[in-house]
Amino acid sequence: MTTVFDSVRLGRCTLTNRLVMAPMTRSRAQFNGTPGESAATYYTQRAGIGLIISEGTQPSDDGQGYLTTPGIYTDAHVAGWKKITDAVHAKGGHIFIQLMHAGRMSHPDNTPHHRQGVAPSAIAPGTGMFTAIGMQDIPTPRALSTEEVRQTVADFAFAARRAVESGADGVEIHGANAYLVQQFFAPSANTRTDEYGGSIENRARFAIEVVQSIAKEIGADRTAIRLSPGTTIWGINEGEEGSDLYRYLVAELNKLGLAYLHVMHQGNDSLLADMRKLWKGTLILNRPGRPREQVGSDVVSGLADLEAYGAMTLANPDFVERLKKNAPMNEPHREGFFGGTDKFYIDYPTLEDAKNV
Ligand SMILES: Cc1cc2nc3c(=O)[nH]c(=O)nc-3n(C[C@H](O)[C@H](O)[C@H](O)COP(=O)(O)O)c2cc1C
Repeated sequence: MTTVFDSVRLGRCTLTNRLVMAPMTRSRAQFNGTPGESAATYYTQRAGIGLIISEGTQPSDDGQGYLTTPGIYTDAHVAGWKKITDAVHAKGGHIFIQLMHAGRMSHPDNTPHHRQGVAPSAIAPGTGMFTAIGMQDIPTPRALSTEEVRQTVADFAFAARRAVESGADGVEIHGANAYLVQQFFAPSANTRTDEYGGSIENRARFAIEVVQSIAKEIGADRTAIRLSPGTTIWGINEGEEGSDLYRYLVAELNKLGLAYLHVMHQGNDSLLADMRKLWKGTLILNRPGRPREQVGSDVVSGLADLEAYGAMTLANPDFVERLKKNAPMNEPHREGFFGGTDKFYIDYPTLEDAKNV
């Protein structure tokens, strides 16, 4: 029987276990997008987890949505990430950088160029966002021209190249949670009339082109994507054809030989089962809110090859040790999730730390 404590081959890496740190924005980067001083410590503390997926990282100025998130397109960004990847590798860990283009989920006050956000169509998400002066409504975005969509695809490939230069083991495209890639999927956010809107094939085109261009740039075995079929937050409605779009998309992605597909499960079990069948490669599954008692069951059942956890890995640097020893977990402190100091960032105790208090 395969368990989460067994090693696994993923792309070019051999992971020591099948547990994954889910991508988590922590908003502690410098204002120029270089990862913050404590980021290497934060990630290295968690290097015992088979695979770390980094916080969402913008591929361009336009791609930034939130305050003080990191980027991966300037020399300073690459140098900053290099410190992190080197430290994680020195501890025997592996790390993929998540490329996150926020699309319309962006406030001009949070970006380096302070420009209007960009999106498939000029439709506001109908929500607010935290900025340096507090919460503000997110303004209506500007629709990308067809030429700009192609440039955005190229921006992703450039960022992927820079991620590999910084020592990352690969990149995960953020295709989930109502950000740019998913905005293209949803008719509620995408009313385009060019080849990137309308039919299922057209709405899936942007995601497929991003994947293909990155795979061409750094190799398919270093390219991955995260999807969250059925997300309904921030004005996203994938409509009645939503499940069919994902069946088409996964069948197309399956042809490309990617490192993995990461599904953030939103509850549609029959779609998940179909995706598992359509996807012949490595599947990482994240089930939001999954209690620790159920950790490992999707690998045992064969539904997933690896399991990803967010809040539990944020709060437990020695997550794998605690699971193995059946030890209690630290509780995550929400007030430290986004921004702030090292408090509730790099000071969650390990079992060893707790013994020495
Ligand atoms: C603080 C925080 C930040 C997050 N940031 C991201 C992100 O940058 N990219 C992403 O794909 N998901 C992000 N998520 C979602 C997590 O990856 C994960 O899917 C979610 O927390 C549910 O899993 P869990 O119940 O194991 O925490 C974030 C979650 C948290 C708690």
